[in-house]
Amino acid sequence: FDQIRPKVEKHIREVKDFPKKGINFRDIMPLFGDPALVNELCVVIADHIRHTTGQIDSVAGLEARGFLFGPQVAIQLGVPFIPIRKQGKLPGSTINASYIKEYGEDRVEIQEGVIKNGDRVFLIDDLLATGGTLRAAADLVKKAGGQVAEAFVLIELSPLNGRSKLEDVNLTALISYD
Ligand code: PRP
Ligand code: HPA
Repeated sequence: FDQIRPKVEKHIREVKDFPKKGINFRDIMPLFGDPALVNELCVVIADHIRHTTGQIDSVAGLEARGFLFGPQVAIQLGVPFIPIRKQGKLPGSTINASYIKEYGEDRVEIQEGVIKNGDRVFLIDDLLATGGTLRAAADLVKKAGGQVAEAFVLIELSPLNGRSKLEDVNLTALISYD
């Protein structure tokens, strides 16, 4: 990742006081103004999976910004993409896991049957903050009978210590901010 890290970093915009005062928001959207770089990034992530993560059965992305990378990585590898969505969005039978947010509880869901017993799942999202979202996603994969081969984020906000909630998970962050 050493070659691509500075190139991606250049496209991450810092927005002060968004969505509320005191929050330094890291905005990944400028990255999508450079489609060649987005493609290169997804190829690099797929290569990392081939060479380091090992065999995987699917890539699962977290709503909403995990959907910007997950399908492209899955296509590179020729494996299914699994959308993990907030509750009530996916039709049919679902499996869910809950987590605590600033204002009460939230839930993430997958459709039943998309993860088979023993499947190795690669989790992907744009950013790790408090870790609640990725924790719930990892719980969900396990509840469905799968295992998390690795969890990958573009950005880790280190001071929020999300990593401490994911001690049982092989977690990789491309960029870490203090
Ligand atoms: C953001 C981000 C991660 C999550 C990280 O999504 O994209 O999914 O928060 O926070 P955590 O580590 O504290 O759980 P958000 O919940 O804002 O939803 P969105 O992508 O649908 O806008
Ligand atoms: N950027 C994007 N998403 C986020 C952030 C941030 O700084 N904090 C929590 N979710």
